[in-house]
Formats: sequence, C-alpha cells, structure tokens
Amino acid sequence: MTFPTRRDFSTQLLGSLLSYGLIETLWRNELLAEPTRADVQKWMGELNELCQSLKGRKLKDVDFQAKLEELYRRVDLKELIALIDFERLSNSVRYPEKGAASLGVDLSKVEGLSRGVVFGKQIFAMKKGRSIVPHGHDNMCTGFIILQGDFTGRHYDRVEDNADHYLIKPTIDRTFKPGECSTISDTKDNVHWFRAESDYGFVFNIHVLGYNPENKKISSRVYVDPEGEKTAGGLIVAKKISSAECHRKYG
Ligand SMILES: [Fe+2]
Repeated sequence: MTFPTRRDFSTQLLGSLLSYGLIETLWRNELLAEPTRADVQKWMGELNELCQSLKGRKLKDVDFQAKLEELYRRVDLKELIALIDFERLSNSVRYPEKGAASLGVDLSKVEGLSRGVVFGKQIFAMKKGRSIVPHGHDNMCTGFIILQGDFTGRHYDRVEDNADHYLIKPTIDRTFKPGECSTISDTKDNVHWFRAESDYGFVFNIHVLGYNPENKKISSRVYVDPEGEKTAGGLIVAKKISSAECHRKYG
C-alpha cells in the first residue's frame, strides 16, 4: 500500500473542495486569508540544500558561511518567527540563572523538509546579561540569527590548539540586532560568545555536524576563556576550561 504524498493529498483535497463548492464559501468568509508562509518554507528548502552541499563536500566551509549569511539576510524574520511558533515557545521558557536555555524547534510542518534534513536546529533563550558562553566547535558549521533582543556578539579565529590553551584572534565584536547573523566553521570565526543586552534575547541556530573529514575530532563544543593574556601578535592565550567554569564566569 502506498500513502499519498502531502502534495497529492492537497491536490485531491482541493479537488473535492472545488467539486463541493466549498472554496467559494471559504473565500466569502475570508477563511483563506491566513498567510501561506510559502516564502519561508521555500527558504527552509534552500537552507537544507545548502547544508547538503556542505555535507556532500560540494562547498568549502568558508563559502558555506558566506552563503548561509546571505540566506539569513534574505529571510522574512516575521514569517520565520511565525513558522516556528515563536510566541508559544517563548511563553513556555524557563530562563536559567546562568547561560542560555536551548529550546527544540519543530520544523515538521515545513513542506518538503520532512525527509533528508541534514541540519540540526534550536533556539537559545536568555535573560538580560546572560550569555551563550564563549566556546568553539570541532568539525561543525553553525550559524546564528537574532530573533529578538539586542546582543553583544563576539567571534574569534582559533589559530592554534595547545595542550591547555588555544591561541585565538578577535574577529568580530559588535552589537547584534534582530535579523542580524553570524556563522562558524573549523576555518573561520570558530569561537563565539553572545550576551543579551535587552530584557530577553532569542537566537535561532542551525548546525551541520561532521562536515570535515580532515578533522578527526567528534563534533562538540570546546569551552574557552577569551580574557587571557595577549601576545605581541594580537592573539589571546585562551585557556581550555570546563563548561561549569565557563558558565560560572561568563554565563
Ligand atoms: Fe556554538
């Protein structure tokens, strides 16, 4: 037995509605006035294709970053927020005393995305003064887009990996407002740190794990202390620290 695809089902449904004259009834009562969200659904499809290209090694990580930022800049923020039912989500948040809460996002209603999704996603939520603490990533590309609130966002290149510290180089340090974005790869802007400057802050995040066959490390976070000693060459000696220590100091 085969099941009809959603598209077939919609076509059949539309057929029945037409034959019963229901479309006219709905139209008269303005029940079809709800936005279709078609644009942001299409956008999600493009996002997934982009992540597939990275995963399939058809795209270099730095090119992926540029394209992801381009895509993030094109999204209709209001529609994205509607699609992820942000209102319901933000009403149910329990804000942690330190750091950020990570909220699951259901994208199963996005047409065409039910199969073959290669990216993970979440929303970070935090109170004023709390942070997505400073950390880098191994074997992972990821991108943030601010949904609500103002942030101070900082990025660093991870230049050298030593036994107890990394040498990092500041690359971004500025205010981020809703709709603004930043990205990470093994190659560029690998460490990020975002602190909420308004009462509440929300960040949408997508990530692609295990994209880099040359990096034998398992995709994970590495916590760093970016307020270390500065070298003559403009680098920072950033100690490797535990998540607990990082949250105590920067959460
Ligand atoms: Fe991260």
